[in-house]
Amino acid sequence: RAGAQVLVASNRGPVTYSLGDDGTLDAKRGGGGLVSGLSAIGDDADALWVCSALGEGDREAVRRGVGEPGVRMLDIDAAVHADAYNGVANSVLWFVHHMLYQTPLEPAFGPEFRAQWASYEAYNRAFAEALAESAGPGAAVLVQDYHLALVPGMLRELRADLRIGHFSHTPWAPVDYFRMLPDDIAERLLRGMLGADRLGFLTGRWADAFTACCVAVLGGTSGTRIGVHGLGADADFLRERSRRADVEERLAALREQIGGDGTRKVVVRVDRTELSKNIVRGLHAYRLLLDERPEWRERVVHVAFAYPSRQDLAVYRDYTAEVSRVASAINSAYGTDSWMPVILHVKDDFARSLAAYRLADVALVNPIRDGMNLVAKEVPVVSDEGCALVLSREAGAFEELGDDALVVNPYDVSGTAQALHTALTMPSAERAERTKRLAASATSLPPSQWFLDQLQALTAP
Ligand code: G6P
Repeated sequence: RAGAQVLVASNRGPVTYSLGDDGTLDAKRGGGGLVSGLSAIGDDADALWVCSALGEGDREAVRRGVGEPGVRMLDIDAAVHADAYNGVANSVLWFVHHMLYQTPLEPAFGPEFRAQWASYEAYNRAFAEALAESAGPGAAVLVQDYHLALVPGMLRELRADLRIGHFSHTPWAPVDYFRMLPDDIAERLLRGMLGADRLGFLTGRWADAFTACCVAVLGGTSGTRIGVHGLGADADFLRERSRRADVEERLAALREQIGGDGTRKVVVRVDRTELSKNIVRGLHAYRLLLDERPEWRERVVHVAFAYPSRQDLAVYRDYTAEVSRVASAINSAYGTDSWMPVILHVKDDFARSLAAYRLADVALVNPIRDGMNLVAKEVPVVSDEGCALVLSREAGAFEELGDDALVVNPYDVSGTAQALHTALTMPSAERAERTKRLAASATSLPPSQWFLDQLQALTAP
């Protein structure tokens, strides 16, 4: 669609293709909060979604001219994309904003990083050029996330007529942590984003951190407007989707696996296997619960879905292995012939995730830091009989859900174990009441409205 009036740009697009041995292309919906939030724009006939080809399947799709209407996939040189996505975006920017570095080894910004940074610039430039080419006169362009921080500034230079917005789906680092980045890079990133007319964040906390970084590094935000849009869960979609036959089937299978004639309590977590999600500490907390409160043995099961993510990065592969190792260790230490304390699934299956949401007595959402966390918002909507939410105060969702959740410090394993106990013993009437309020807060800004609000704020005179 040349001359599009509304454009969205993100690294990950709505679908990715995998290439089968027989040469067939199989389309699959992308994971993560960004794609969930933006899927509503697919229905807008004037919109164009510009994204990266992420693997061989996507590249092949571009070569064959296969694709969704309204999606333009950019086939950026694979080595450039790998440096930009794995090197700069996911090993540096993601780590800075989620405060994931572990001294003394990381971070170290030397020649390798500088080479990757050159690729990050080239990759951002490829997006800016594609957007400049596809946008109609005066069009609105909504650039997404840390992968594309330089695009607003670059696009502004190519096309002064456009309205440019940028939205961050991650937290924003506090000043002192952000300033780990080399000074020139910190400056480039902030100036790149400030090339937008308007910047959006998921919570006031992340918006304030961004502003503080601009003040410290640049002396101010140079007039760019900043807004907060707390993406909510899509109630209508979730309620309908979670009652379909495939979910019912998985519900039955899960009940069977849990065992105990339906009397066992179920603690559920669903995440990308992601360092920021803090899955290992969550497992340690559950182990501590079984250790310190033996009355829970045989009476509770932890259903943990940890879907592999960013497996090109060694630190993610190691973390994925660690999650499996810790889960198995719990099963070896406490399991019996009739009871498996942890059920870990790693194969991504949205219908099974919904089934787990439905039967959960407790949901564990304990990230170290998280832009929002949609799982915390989805569970209360889908839950059959009410679900107690154990929620990290470092998730963006805490701002809206904190009052009715059991709030934890994600590093405090003992505190998390205590919160699990409190959640498991919560009277069912209280649980149902809280779930109702959680669901109301969680759905107050559905994705379609979230997107429209941003568009309106961007195009308002
Ligand atoms: C987070 C990021 C998104 C990203 C998603 C999945 O939600 O904010 O930009 O798409 O994680 O990560 P991936 O690297 O697989 O795209």
